[in-house]
Amino acid sequence: MLKSKSVLIGVCGGIAAYKVCEVISSLFQAGADVRVILTETAQRFITPLTVATLSRHQAYTDKDFWQSPHSRPLHIALGEEADLLLIAPLTANSLGKLTYGLADNLLTNTVLASRCPILLAPAMNTEMWEQSVIQRNWQQLRRNTRYHSIGPGSGLLACDRTGSGRMAEPTEIITKLQSLAYTQGQQDFKGKRILISGGGTREHLDPVRFLGNPSTGKMGLALAQAASDRGAVVTLVHGPIAPELQPISADYKLISVVSAEQMEAVIMTHLVESDIIIMSAAVADVKPAHYSNHKLPKKDLPTELKLDPVTDILAKLGSLKKVHQTLIGFAAQTGDIVNPALDKLKRKNLDIIVANPVDQTESGFGTDTNKAVFINAKEQQKIIDSCSKLELAHRLLDFVKIRGVSSEQ
Ligand code: CTP
Repeated sequence: MLKSKSVLIGVCGGIAAYKVCEVISSLFQAGADVRVILTETAQRFITPLTVATLSRHQAYTDKDFWQSPHSRPLHIALGEEADLLLIAPLTANSLGKLTYGLADNLLTNTVLASRCPILLAPAMNTEMWEQSVIQRNWQQLRRNTRYHSIGPGSGLLACDRTGSGRMAEPTEIITKLQSLAYTQGQQDFKGKRILISGGGTREHLDPVRFLGNPSTGKMGLALAQAASDRGAVVTLVHGPIAPELQPISADYKLISVVSAEQMEAVIMTHLVESDIIIMSAAVADVKPAHYSNHKLPKKDLPTELKLDPVTDILAKLGSLKKVHQTLIGFAAQTGDIVNPALDKLKRKNLDIIVANPVDQTESGFGTDTNKAVFINAKEQQKIIDSCSKLELAHRLLDFVKIRGVSSEQ
């Protein structure tokens, strides 16, 4: 999603600048053309040499601004060439300057000379971040539709405190930039409420043994990210997901469940208020008929497991949904993916089904990429070749818009 995109990064003077080195490296590896401006104080934390080595381009500093050897003023050239601008870490000082349109260095002049979407990743000590004057500037700046934000999250800070003000993680920043590259900041689902399920459920036999599946929750997380980046109010109900996949700066609500029964209860509570419901979770079809609330000794384990069915949540939603609601299911299939998916779409009264091959490379459980065929109730189909789960999520939202469900209609 970032291949051949020109990404300009403005680094301000904060300790989180060291994390930006990872962002630069990841962007380069993703095929982006990365240019970096270091403010005067940023150079106290990371050097122009570090940045130039990682980005494969000269690092720009205020020295270049005042002694520009270029045929065109440097801030104009950098501003015009950028497809996306990231400012990370955004400090209290630079936040104040951006809020009031001040331009006293290369970075702030370049911001004013550019038109592309800008992603802001603030990082500050908690006391600083919570000052009313900082919060006022932050709210005011974010009202400008050019500016998009990520974080700050909460966590251990360099001042030895644990609190808000921690810069978003590099992987979160990259994901947000990928979304921005796709949408150019368009908020086409603003005002829509989207309920998403993701991950796999676990049906326990006892506290340590369960029936489960290999779903990691990556598709659900990608859907939640894409939908919230496009302005929707998103709730993601998910089965257990690995700690390293848990977002710390998510701007959507996460509700963690374990069993299909718990997932059903949460979904039913949120159903009425939802405009779009996307069931990407790998929900169990059956559960052990008997649950032991203490760990069964090996000798007491059954040699045959009696199973009970669990509610098909998607089918239940299909029978309850209102005309204004859009219901989307997933069909994880092997072999022929289209015909069984079409059958599920009709049987469960869905508006869209995502036929998802799980027996092919670059697709299915746990992978970062996915493939699919989107099918709607008019039996229109869209084939999606291998792409990242985030891109597939965005393309699914585009497909939803064909049905007339977005804030643009
Ligand atoms: N699903 C659900 N509740 C369940 C099981 C599945 O809501 N108890 C949802 C999944 O989230 C997914 C869709 O149903 O969106 C597809 O599930 P799948 O198991 O493929 O559907 P089935 O109708 O059970 O298909 P099959 O008969 O082929 O097993």
